[in-house]
Amino acid sequence: MSQSPKSSRRDRQSSTIHGDDASRGGDVSEPVVEFGAVPLWLIVLLGILTYWAQLYLDHNAAGFQARVYGSFDSYAQVDSLQPKSDAEAFLARGKVVYEQTCGVCHQPTGLGSQSPLAPPLAGSEWVLTPGAGRPIVIAINGLQGEITVKGEKFNAAMPQGLTDTLSDTDLAAAISYIRQSWGNKASIVSPQQIKSYRDKFNGHPQWTAEELLQIPVEE
Ligand code: HEC
Repeated sequence: MSQSPKSSRRDRQSSTIHGDDASRGGDVSEPVVEFGAVPLWLIVLLGILTYWAQLYLDHNAAGFQARVYGSFDSYAQVDSLQPKSDAEAFLARGKVVYEQTCGVCHQPTGLGSQSPLAPPLAGSEWVLTPGAGRPIVIAINGLQGEITVKGEKFNAAMPQGLTDTLSDTDLAAAISYIRQSWGNKASIVSPQQIKSYRDKFNGHPQWTAEELLQIPVEE
């Protein structure tokens, strides 16, 4: 009789592995596909990878903002988002500083307010002097007592020390901003000007309107 293919393979194996067939458990069956449990380390590794990917996206994907990912409608729109010049960037900085440091009282509109009482800066003769000395020292040391602004009398107090933590550049930007906004048209101010007024009037008490007249209108 002829041998079955199974037994002939077993014979071939036992001849090459020196006959220790018993230790291999006898029959050598075909490999089969089975479902095994996913190892725990793989689950943990995937968890760590997902977490890392989340952090990576948070830091690098610009929050999926439309302005970053969305397409632009026209060249004009792209152009409008480019910073124009150093002067514009300086005034844009000034707007931020103004709104944080002065805007609560004088308002983002520059029109002042009733509560807290603060006079307008838009069109104010104290802001629009040819040289910026007066608005600079007001911002550095504050102001109190009666003052007339655009024909209207005010008598309140602007505190001292409001701008102590601002850099010369930030204060220069803010004063430049109030001199160039809301229809105001006066020269911009340099950080060097701020520094020289700070050196000169460091520790000066709050100004009064009368005292301010000693600060020359021109520089
Ligand atoms: C806490 C409220 C307050 C803040 C903040 C404030 N001011 Fe004033 N400011 C006043 C008041 C009140 C007066 C009028 C004082 C008076 O009656 O003597 C005044 C007056 C002025 C004046 C002169 C009058 C006029 O209207 O032109 C200028 C200039 C001025 N402030 C600029 C600034 C700038 C610049 C800042 C920010 C760096 C600032 N102020 C922050 C309350 C404030």
